[in-house]
Amino acid sequence: MFDRRGRHDGASPQAAAALLLASGAASLLAAFAARAQHATAYDVADGERAYEAACANCHGPDGDLIPGIDFGRGVYRRELTDAEIARIIVDGIPNTPMPPNPGMSELEALQIAAYLRAMAAEKRDIARRGDPARGRALFEGKGGCLDCHRVGTRGSRSGPDLTRIGRLRRGVELEQSLLDPEAEVRPENRSYAVTAADGERVTGRLLNHDTFTVQLVDTYGRLRSFEKSELLEHGFVPTPMPPAREALDDAEIADVVSYLVSLRGESMQ
Ligand code: HEC
Ligand code: HEC
Repeated sequence: MFDRRGRHDGASPQAAAALLLASGAASLLAAFAARAQHATAYDVADGERAYEAACANCHGPDGDLIPGIDFGRGVYRRELTDAEIARIIVDGIPNTPMPPNPGMSELEALQIAAYLRAMAAEKRDIARRGDPARGRALFEGKGGCLDCHRVGTRGSRSGPDLTRIGRLRRGVELEQSLLDPEAEVRPENRSYAVTAADGERVTGRLLNHDTFTVQLVDTYGRLRSFEKSELLEHGFVPTPMPPAREALDDAEIADVVSYLVSLRGESMQ
């Protein structure tokens, strides 16, 4: 890089290096910003992880929980470059709840900015096409979802509790879970089954296991512990969750997704 630059403007590589050093942090930031404009898939994936850990709690997984700001649709209160977004991430916005992240590097902040851009560029979220009220009726009725899932105080415990799922996962991910349940199973949701010596079969989520014992939360939400030596069988089993297309058409799936996105753990009846 220095070579080409040296030849081009007649300066030695050393002079070019000195120039870079002299311009210091500003040029470093510019270089990172240039990099963010050409963000790689790795940058975006790192940015997504950092966003989920540090930002989703307030801004929401789809970036639309704070009034006037909607990252998923590229809506900001004022126009911001990637470098300005990175600056806000590191410094926060004084006198507002937007906190500083002093431990975060410029590069990490720019990766988050790249993720916010990528989010906005994605195809319109399926959740926005659906109707949450219709989705709820389908979820509780024809979809049969309460047979396995719990929302608030209703439903069963054999599948994951979905009371706050709208805070944990994005519309596009939820759609994926419904269309192809086996494709996207979060590690803590993997189904595990044991068959006891007396033939009793217990399915649930694996809580813990060591050389001698295995602990599950069974489909009734009870903690069960077994001695491995006394079991006929034990191991992970495929998800029992049926693909949503078995019960619902595409418009109905969009309704259910928009209902799930609305589940944020508040005011559950
Ligand atoms: C504690 C809650 C909270 C957290 C955590 C948080 N934010 Fe914010 N953020 C806010 C609030 C509230 C505002 C609006 C501030 C205001 O009133 O101007 C905001 C504003 C912003 C803005 C300015 C948007 C605009 O339109 O001007 C950006 C960009 C932003 N946040 C990005 C992030 C990113 C990225 C993270 C994670 C690294 C994050 N925020 C973490 C609450 C939060
Ligand atoms: C026979 C039981 C069963 C039925 C019926 C069922 N699910 Fe599931 N579901 C599960 C299990 C078990 C998992 C965890 C494993 C996985 O992710 O596939 C799961 C996972 C999910 C997830 C991912 C949760 C997460 O934390 O990532 C969503 C979302 C979901 N189900 C929604 C639904 C909806 C909506 C319906 C109704 C249309 C439904 N499920 C019907 C058993 C079921």
